[in-house]
Formats: sequence, structure tokens, C-alpha cells
Amino acid sequence: MPIIRRVTGLEILDSRGRPTVQASCELVSGVVATVSVPSGASTGANEAHELRDGDPKRYRGLGCRQAVSNINETINKALAGFAFDNQAELDASLIELDGSSDKSRLGANAILAVSLAFARACAIEQQVPLYQYFAGLQNRSAASRLPRPTINLFSGGKHAGAQVAIQDLLVVPVAAQTMDEALATVVAVFQAAADLTHERYGVRLLTADEGGLAPPFPSLDAMFEDAIEAIRRAGFEPGPDVALAVDVASSHFYQDGVYALSPQQRLSPVDMIEQLAQWLDRYPIISLEDGLAEDDWAHWPQLRARLAGRALVLGDDFLCTNPARIRKAIDANAANALLLKVNQIGTLTEASEACRIARAAGWHVTVSARSGETEDSWLADLSVGWSGDHIKVGSITQSERLAKYNRLLAIEAETRLPLAPP
Ligand code: PGA
Ligand code: ZN
Repeated sequence: MPIIRRVTGLEILDSRGRPTVQASCELVSGVVATVSVPSGASTGANEAHELRDGDPKRYRGLGCRQAVSNINETINKALAGFAFDNQAELDASLIELDGSSDKSRLGANAILAVSLAFARACAIEQQVPLYQYFAGLQNRSAASRLPRPTINLFSGGKHAGAQVAIQDLLVVPVAAQTMDEALATVVAVFQAAADLTHERYGVRLLTADEGGLAPPFPSLDAMFEDAIEAIRRAGFEPGPDVALAVDVASSHFYQDGVYALSPQQRLSPVDMIEQLAQWLDRYPIISLEDGLAEDDWAHWPQLRARLAGRALVLGDDFLCTNPARIRKAIDANAANALLLKVNQIGTLTEASEACRIARAAGWHVTVSARSGETEDSWLADLSVGWSGDHIKVGSITQSERLAKYNRLLAIEAETRLPLAPP
């Protein structure tokens, strides 16, 4: 049974140059493990609370010194010298110690960093790969597949200065048989898209927060058409070889019952659903994330009824990896896929429960990174251990993204596991 000697925190910088939290967990056995947590920008209103210092003179208020001090002081005092049977016990102690409903006292960033550092320390102590440890949390004896990657090609919205309203247009290598082939396919499409946007818009690698290309598209249709053309130029057939996924992130352009998709298109919820259905008619889209706003509960069931069977109706800000919201959405028939972001809920145990509930309802699970990431690759292991259908890590550029893809390549080489079906 692992006994914690101490936990320590450190404020580090994420891929946007904003502070985030790193934690180390040292066990009495001598094992030490370190983990970094990511941070979003297009965050849901119902996420667990990320503690920030709020001092405008330092990192524009985004400092994490308080969260780090909570690890070094309060959390360390509560955990040091104690043995924990398993992850659930450790996480329950953290939740109890925090005592708030949204982890705002100690900070979800502090709590998750410790939850994950303990996980990595246990994996080292048990001498199992991290993905195997994660599989154990879901009572799986072994990992059985690798998630299929869905990879940002073009970005807009909050990740790219809102030149178009929707946040991400992703490509999905549906015909690829291996992770290696999947990544090679997407790199070819990305390079074709970079050449195309250079020709068409005169900009080269103008990239967004997650590494997607972000040229000044004149319209949303231009963005879709350019993606289709890039897939063709790379030698693939749009649809059977490489499909599309969209993160509409519509909460960010929704207000008072209106979806402001563009200055000319101010749509009612019903018209927005029709617009999404039209995109599905015109383009090979297999997954549609946050097609409606996070609290538009009245219309999500209609969205699902209209689109299910044709594309995944995927909830990100809508569900916030929150077991209570997922249960409510299942009861309301409001979606059929979960975007799983561990830091939206704040501990591994709760995220695992969210994943379990979604799966029990027959839903699909897309494991996701955040727009502010670090060089840590634990998410790749988690996506394999929890048998994600898809993984969404951003583009195929920038090392905070590549750290995850490279880890997936290493896991593939080690295990020869198959890719999940599209
Ligand atoms: P975030 O966005 O990490 O900035 O919240 C990612 C997403 O919306 O999927
Ligand atoms: Zn999203």
C-alpha cells in the first residue's frame, strides 16, 4: 500500500505562456513522480474552479502561487505519512479536504495535479506502464485499443481571434489502420493545408493556440471547402479516407436565444440545428461538438434527434465531464458522446466515473487535452487505459501536442494494440 512521504507543487508555464501547476508526489518507498496539469481558454461555465491569484501585476492575474502553496501546505500536511489503498481513497481525501462543491477552496488545478502525481507514483511503484495503471482504475485487466486521433486543421473562435465563429475544424483519419498511419495521413493533410492557405490568403504558418492554421477565411464555407481541398491535395478521398470533425464551441457566440454564427447569420436554436444539419449534408462530418450552447438544455434533445446516426453529438462545455450533468443529458436524450477533460471535474476518480456513466449509456468517449497544455504526456496513457474512442489533442505541430502523439506512437510500438474504429 503506497504511503505518501510528501507532495510538493511548482508554478510552471503552459503552451500559451500562462502559469499552471506541476506537482510531485514522493512515496515512502523512495518513488517520486511529477505531473503537470493543463488549462483551458474556451472554458465551460460549469467546470471545477481553477484557482488563480488575481494579482493584475503578475501574469495578468493568472498566477498559480496560491494553488501551489495549497499543495505545499494544506494538502501536504493532510497527506504526508498516510497510506492510501487506491486512487479512489486518495481522491476522496482531496475532495473532503477541499470541502467546496466546485473545488474552489484548494483549486481544481492543485487537486488534479496531486491526484495525477499520485497515479504516476503508484504506476512506478507497481512497475506497470501508466496506461496499465489507468486501465486498472476502470477494472480493466489490460488496455485493448488505441484511440483514433481527431486532429485540428483550422481554428477560429476563442483560440484564434474569432476570424470565424466556430472554434476548430478537425480531420479524422478514418481509413488508417495504425496510429503511425493515422499521424502520417494527418501530417500530409496539414502540409497541403498550409500550402493552400499560403497561396490563397498569403499567410504561412499563422497558428492558433492548439497549433491549427488560422488564416482569414472569408466565410465558414470557405473553411470547410479549404479542408476538403487539402485532403484531396494530400492524395486522400474526403469521407472514406479522411473525415471531418467540428468543435462548434457555440456557447461563445450564443446570447439571449441567438446564435451569432456571423454578422449576417443570427440564428434561433432551431435554425442553428438546421444549419448544423446542412453542414452534415455537404461535408463528411462524423463528430459535432458543442453544436448548441452549454445551457441550452431545451434544444439539445432536438439536436440529438436530428443528427444522431449521422454524426456524434458530442458535449464539451455542455457536460463538463460532470457525472451529474452527464446523467441529466442521458435522461434527456440530449447527446450521445462525451468529451472527457479531466481538469473540468478535478480528480481522476470523478473523471473515471464520468467516463463509466457515458459508456454505460452506450455513448462514445473522446478524451481531450486543453488549449493550454504542457510537455507532459499522461493524457496519452489515460486515453489508452480508459479505452477512448477518439483522442483530441490539437494540431500536429507544437511539442506540447506532439508529446501526446509521440507517447501514443511509443505505446503502439510497445503493445501493437489496434486503433479504435472511427
Ligand atoms: P479549451 O478548449 O481547452 O480552451 O477549453 C478546447 C475545446 O473547446 O475543446
Ligand atoms: Zn470544445
